[in-house]
Order: sequence, then C-alpha cells, then structure tokens
Amino acid sequence: MLTIICGLAPVLTAAPVRGLIDEPISIKGHLLPRDCPVTVCAQMHSEQGDLWEAFAHYKTNADGTVNLTTDHSVGGSYLGCEPMGLFWGLQPAPGGREGLRLRKKNMETPLVVRVSLLEGHVSSRDSQSTELAAVTTERWYMAPGVQRIAIRQNGVIGTLFMPPGPGPFPAMLDLWGMGGGLIEYRSALLASRGYASLSLAYIGHKELPSPRNRMNVSDSYFNSAFHLLQDHHQVCADRVGIIGLSFGVYLALRTATQPSVMVCVSMSSVNKSVGETDFIKFLSTIHTHLFTSSPSSYRLMIRTCCIGYQMEETLKAAGKSQLFTRLSYPGAGHLIEPPYTPNSRASLWSVKPKKLITLWGGHLAAHAAAQEDAWKKMLDFMECNLRR
Ligand SMILES: *[C@@H]1O[C@H](CO)[C@@H](O)[C@H](O)[C@H]1NC(C)=O
Ligand SMILES: *[C@@H]1O[C@H](CO)[C@@H](O)[C@H](O)[C@H]1NC(C)=O
Ligand SMILES: *[C@@H]1O[C@H](CO)[C@@H](O)[C@H](O)[C@H]1NC(C)=O
Repeated sequence: MLTIICGLAPVLTAAPVRGLIDEPISIKGHLLPRDCPVTVCAQMHSEQGDLWEAFAHYKTNADGTVNLTTDHSVGGSYLGCEPMGLFWGLQPAPGGREGLRLRKKNMETPLVVRVSLLEGHVSSRDSQSTELAAVTTERWYMAPGVQRIAIRQNGVIGTLFMPPGPGPFPAMLDLWGMGGGLIEYRSALLASRGYASLSLAYIGHKELPSPRNRMNVSDSYFNSAFHLLQDHHQVCADRVGIIGLSFGVYLALRTATQPSVMVCVSMSSVNKSVGETDFIKFLSTIHTHLFTSSPSSYRLMIRTCCIGYQMEETLKAAGKSQLFTRLSYPGAGHLIEPPYTPNSRASLWSVKPKKLITLWGGHLAAHAAAQEDAWKKMLDFMECNLRR
C-alpha cells in the first residue's frame, strides 16, 4: 500500500479542465508518495454509449508528483513523453463492440474524459485497482459564441458554423468522404478558430435524393453549396476555401468554383471505376483550367497521398510548384482528423448489404503526431492565405 504524505489526499489537476479538442491539456498529480508506480487512466463514453479507454504507467518523481507534460510513460497505451497520449490513445475498451470510430454528432455537448490516477501499474480501470485521485475534463469542438445554423436551401443539406461576432469571416466548405451523413465536428472546430465553415451532406443523408447508399447529387450541388457560403453576408466572398478528406478531395477538385485555397487530406480515388492514371489525367486537366483562370489565388495542400507526388511533378512542370505544399506523414493512417483524437485503424464501413470493416491504417503515436502537425500547418496555411 502507498503511504499518503502528511495525511493529505493526492490531487490530480488538468489545465484547462474545459477546452477545445485541439488544445493541449497539462495533467499533473501531486501529494503522491515519491518514486512509486502509478497508472494514469482516461475513460470516456461515446454518444453511442461505448466505453473508450487509455492508460499509461508512470513512476512518481522525487517530489511526489507526476507531470504528463514532462514525464515518460513506461507502459500502457503509449510509451515515452506524450503529454496528450491519454486522449489520442483512447481506444474502445476490451470486450466492446468492434469497428468503432469516434465521431461526435452533437456539437452542443463536449466529450467528457475522466482521468484517474491509480495505485501501481495496472492494465485498465478494473475493480481491483485503487483510485488515488481523479479529474473530469471537457473537450469541445464548438467554442462559446459559435453559431450552428442548419442549412436547407436550394436543395443544399448542410450545417453552417459561424464564429462569434459580425464578420465578415473567411470561410471553408467542408467535405468528408463516402462514409456519408452530415459530419459537423471539423466545421465546428474551424469556426472556433475564426472561420465560417459549412459541413455539406452529399450521400447517406435522409433528406438527400435517394438512394441513400449512392451519391445522387450532381456537380451543381457542390457549386450551389460553395456559392451559398460565398454569398453569406458574414463571409468574405473572395476568401472561401474547400477542405476535403478522402473522396471529398475528389469532389473538391471537381467543383467548377474558384476556391481561394484547397486543403486536401488523404486524397483517394474511392471510385474504383476511376483508375489512378485517369485520376491524375483528370486532375491535371482541372489544374490547368484553374491555374490559367486564377493562378495567383489558387493554393493547394496535399497530405498523405501517393497521387500527391505525381501532382507535384505535374505542377512543377507547369511552373506552379510554389502554389503547392505536399506534406507526407509516414506511419499515419488514412483518417487524419483534428488533433488529440483517437485513430480508428479499422472501422465498420457498412452493414448493408453485408458487414464490412475498412482498414484505415496508421500507428497510434505516428498518427497522433501527424494529426497534431497537420492541423497546426493547416491553420497556419489558412491564416496566411485566407486572412492576410
Ligand atoms: C509540468 O511540467 C511543465 C514543463 O516543465 C511545466 O510547464 C508545467 O507547469 C508542469 N505542470 C504543472 C501542473 O506543474
Ligand atoms: C436520383 O434522384 C432523382 C430525384 O431527385 C430520382 O428521380 C432518380 O431516380 C434518383 N436516381 C437513382 C439512381 O435512384
Ligand atoms: C465513378 O466513375 C464513373 C466513371 O467515370 C462515373 O460514371 C461515376 O459517376 C463515378 N461515381 C461517382 C460517385 O462519382
């Protein structure tokens, strides 16, 4: 058993206790016995009720503290000094449902992560372990004052997030992949960082033209969404970009609109009937068109993408390489999301007509580092090109 110094109970602190999902948290335990093994454990229930868990083994310092910003984990969900490891290391608890991917639906509530300090080195928050201290943190996608506006206009199904204040703001059109639905969290976070952002549904949403499992909107749908954003009285019409992930990149590159910036995350040709060669050919057509029409305002950023290399070469040949930044992250998986959120290496893609688990890949720590770096570089890139 541990002996408690001066009879005072150990304390676990988190700062900030309530913050945005992309804000680092500093976690520290004190009033602990010195040089003792402890486990720090994070637990969170998703909106679907599934338990997610991460844990790490530490040894307390000579002053009876453990500080996750500087101390090294020697075992558990992550190793080494990983100040945010308890958050990006969250994984479905053993015995839970398979193929889970953490996707917050309700932007008006936070993810609630309870962090506890346990005696000894244990491998989960089991009933045998003695809890020494705990703290509950709130992780938000939507900052106070951000407005969430449902969009049902000209057939466009989306959700617009508007930063606090009158604007006008630079803006982003936010396109996710073929998983479909109306995915709001990245837009909510972008609005929390000062960008109006429109999450757009284009497949897998009950208010879109059927069938639900196939895309049944035309190119004009995406153009309408872009113009709707551009024409909004709180948006700077000449500072509107597009962010796409996976199939969303393909859609972004197809729009006949003229975005000021493009952020392409994990471009992929999900449409199997479009081969890679066709895709490159198709992209270079688009590029040529866009560069000739507005060469100075067009910027392109590509991540984790094999096609990116070929695009880079194409652009170089066209003398446009200064417009293009390609960042590649070895060890990261396909789903590069906002930082400090867990990586789903595999998740349930569809249940109809048959259950299908898709492998997204990535090593947890490398993926987490990629998410952190990519998000920071993306915000810098947007700041540079949309706000100045
Ligand atoms: C943890 O260590 C870091 C780096 O030394 C320091 O900045 C931070 O204040 C410490 N946290 C607490 C709560 O003392
Ligand atoms: C797509 O939606 C239209 C109605 O907007 C409908 O007439 C058409 O049959 C749908 N296409 C398919 C393949 O179901
Ligand atoms: C996939 O590619 C084929 C062939 O180019 C095209 O007919 C089809 O519309 C594409 N599907 C989507 C969802 O874009």
